[in-house]
Order: sequence, then structure tokens, then C-alpha cells
Amino acid sequence: MSNVLQLSGVSVVRGTKKLLDGINWQVNEGERWVVLGPNGAGKTTLLSLAAARLHPTSGRVEILDETMGKVDVFELRPRIGLSSAALANQIPEDEKVLNVVVTAAYGVTGRWLEEYERDDERRAFRLLNEWGMGPLLGRMFASLSEGERKRVQIARALMTDPELLLLDEPGAGLDLAGREELVYKLSELAKDDDAPALVLVTHHLEEVPPGFTHVLLLRDGGVVASGPIGSTLTEENLSAAFGLPLDVRANDGRYTAVAKAVTPQDGAAAQSVQTA
Ligand SMILES: Nc1ncnc2c1ncn2[C@@H]1O[C@H](COP(=O)(O)OP(=O)(O)OP(=O)(O)O)[C@@H](O)[C@H]1O
Ligand SMILES: [Mg+2]
Repeated sequence: MSNVLQLSGVSVVRGTKKLLDGINWQVNEGERWVVLGPNGAGKTTLLSLAAARLHPTSGRVEILDETMGKVDVFELRPRIGLSSAALANQIPEDEKVLNVVVTAAYGVTGRWLEEYERDDERRAFRLLNEWGMGPLLGRMFASLSEGERKRVQIARALMTDPELLLLDEPGAGLDLAGREELVYKLSELAKDDDAPALVLVTHHLEEVPPGFTHVLLLRDGGVVASGPIGSTLTEENLSAAFGLPLDVRANDGRYTAVAKAVTPQDGAAAQSVQTA
């Protein structure tokens, strides 16, 4: 299998609003994608489609060689790992960290009285350790810091050994050290040949981990640009996606973007236009 995601002419419409409009996008095995775009661009909607949690209004969505509408989504979903704020909100406040992860094997949030396989518990334990959360596995999810929660969510998303891992703003709410640690871990994951295909949604160029291979830029439900990161993450494309002139810098696989400074000449020109 090489075709992880294939969206062809996909639109999502709610009332009179087009959340996504005629999206074409292909993700192949081994690729690591960053999805960038301003608030409301349609990133979370796109990820919900890719996670088999939303059907398109029109167009065709193929996930892991299955076509949405023709496949039992309950069989498909365990093959996809998802970390998102919406999913985190479903986790009961008193859920223990180990259970937050182990319940993913059963496609639920919230442990009831069911007995879990020892193998599942061992895997959850190993993943929590890998993400630095081993010492906290007995804690209640609600008592964790934002950064700790994010790491537990990623461990949960990896629990079913997915073929596709979708991360919606995993860096949101993290402090500088937390963000850098996350970027490092995601960069390690990106370079791991055994890791699933990755799609990471973010607003911030500083959160793009080295090793990510492709980028999709969204604005107003449409694709501004998509392709290999080196040739697509350009000042021109990013400025178009965010609707303001940006100064984009790349250094050792890391990126930064700031608004272009207005030069004194620009200011004078703007003033003369205003007073004319
Ligand atoms: N059920 C709905 N009905 C109408 N509009 C909706 C609905 N769900 C989402 N939207 C709108 O669709 C647009 C895209 O939403 P989406 O959550 O995909 O954006 P996003 O790119 O993830 O934004 P953010 O960066 O703020 O998370 C937004 O303007 C949102 O208000
Ligand atoms: Mg979103």
C-alpha cells in the first residue's frame, strides 16, 4: 500500500458556508505532512475527514485504500491515530493516565469495568515511557499540565499502531521548553522509517519539526499551495495563506515567520496616499 490519503474534489458545506471547497490532496506512505493556515481555514475539518470522522458533502475521500461511504468506519478508525482538542475533551476528568492510552485499543474514551489484555497494558505503558510520561501513569488526566496532556494524547494516538497519525495542534498551549521538546520528539518520529504517515496541523512555523517532508497551505477552505516542504514553504505562499506579507526564514530545518517590517519609505508613501 502506498496511498495513505487521496482526496479528490472534496467539499464540506454547512448551511451556506463552504468549510472546504474542491480539495485535491494526496498523502503517500512514508510522507510527513504539515498543514498550515490561519484560524478558520478548514484545517480541523480536513483532519476530521482524514480521520474517517466526517463525510464530505461532495467529492471522494480514500483513506488507507478504503473509500469513505463504502467502508465500515469502525473497522477503519483503529488504523488511524488522532490527537485533537475535541478528542481530549471527551476524556473523563478522573480517568487515569494509563487508561487514557489503553482505552484507545478499544476505540473508547473512559474505562468501564472491561478487562484489558495484559499486552495492551504493556504497550500503553511502553508508549507512555517513550513520551516521558511513565512516572505519571497513575495520575488523573485532569491533573496534568497542558504539555503532559499533549504527550499522553500522542501516546494514545499511537496505541493501535496506526498506519496514519493525525495531530491537530499538538503544540497549542505549550511553553517554550514544552514546544521544543515536542518538536524534537516529532522530529525523531518523522525520521523513524517504521513510523506511520504523519499529518501535523499547526499555525506556527516554529512548530514544524525537522524531517517533515511536505506542506499543505490552506486559506478559506481552499488549497493555496501543496508539495515538498523545501519548494512550497516559501515567503510568497505563506504570505498568501495568512493574508499578510511575511518574512520567512529557514535555519537548520527550523522555520520562523514574522510580518514584514514597514520601511520608512513605505510609511511615507502610505501617508502621502492617505493625505492625497
Ligand atoms: N457545523 C458548522 N457550521 C458552520 N460552520 C462551521 C461548522 N463547523 C465549522 N465551521 C466553520 O468552518 C470554518 C473552518 O473550521 P475549522 O475548525 O476546520 O478551521 P481551522 O482551520 O481548524 O481553524 P483553527 O485554526 O481556528 O482551529 C470555520 O470558519 C468554522 O467556524
Ligand atoms: Mg482547528
